[in-house]
Amino acid sequence: MKTQGIIACLKGLLVIGVMMTLASNSVCAAPRGSAWGANYFPNIELVDQDGNKVRFYDDLLKDKVFAVNFIYTRCMDSCPLETAALRKVEKALGELMGKDVFFYTISIDGDRDNPAALKDYAAKFNTGPGWKFLTGKPEDVTMLRQKLGMYREDGKAEQSLSEHGISILMGNEKAGQWIKRSPFEETQSLVRVLSTRLQSKHVSKSTVVVDSRPPAESNGEKVFRSKCEACHSVGNEDGIGPGLKGVVALRDRAWLKKWIKEPDQLITGKDPIAIDLFKKYKELPMPNLRLQDSEVDELITYLEQYDGSDDKTSPEVP
Ligand code: HEC
Repeated sequence: MKTQGIIACLKGLLVIGVMMTLASNSVCAAPRGSAWGANYFPNIELVDQDGNKVRFYDDLLKDKVFAVNFIYTRCMDSCPLETAALRKVEKALGELMGKDVFFYTISIDGDRDNPAALKDYAAKFNTGPGWKFLTGKPEDVTMLRQKLGMYREDGKAEQSLSEHGISILMGNEKAGQWIKRSPFEETQSLVRVLSTRLQSKHVSKSTVVVDSRPPAESNGEKVFRSKCEACHSVGNEDGIGPGLKGVVALRDRAWLKKWIKEPDQLITGKDPIAIDLFKKYKELPMPNLRLQDSEVDELITYLEQYDGSDDKTSPEVP
């Protein structure tokens, strides 16, 4: 009955993507070392970026509040945005990280992503303690994703790594609460889930950063906030990628459009500007975010406002 409850809960997340709650006494602990934590979670062995072996249920989930996502380090697609979006959440959570909230980013490419590759990847995003990057046997990780409802959203077999689902699963294991969200959502809403909704005890949130900006004024700004801001400012300061002030004037328009739409193609095609930028920014590829042409145009119009000398001041990005 208890196990059924968890299965129903996680499968329910897969289908409807809303919060499901189990009574807090509906999860019971499994004996240490058993193959299934609390009877449902595969207690598989994973290795973190520092080479430490951990058990998925016993060491990562049990009694904790956490966010779990799946990536692979060679991904030129949405994974870097997922990681960058979580990094923003990490920064906003401040001291809660590693104390009241934990992040687990698990590679789906266990054949290639060894701890050293993950450590290198984590360093590109400058992540802090409380966030583990993990790898394991590919078949174990696939089973884990299936159990968590994080395999391909339509349930079909994945033909390639890039078809993997890109949700973030957040949970409070003890309370049996699970929430699945998209990395494209506003940082604040993910922060609220992890700092308030999933916390069963009172946590001191004095260090949590709150975004008090008014809603986006244009579609370009909206897209920028959900798909670019995790890596870029519109000022001069670099984030994970370069500060974008002046970029519309600096670059040829056709190049800029192509880059924003399909940066992976310019990088793999060895476009000289793209390669220079790629080398300069720690060889982290800007993701291909599958934008529409109209979104690219709206983004460029938005960025143009920050180009001139009499431009708007750059908004404070929390
Ligand atoms: C995961 C982080 C990430 C995201 C998300 C991201 N970028 Fe980038 N961006 C980069 C990196 C890193 C570079 C530097 C080149 C490289 O390493 O690929 C870059 C480079 C650029 C450049 C080139 C700057 C120049 O000097 O020519 C532009 C323009 C740009 N990004 C715009 C965008 C826009 C618009 C979005 C949102 C649709 C976006 N980026 C989303 C990481 C990101």
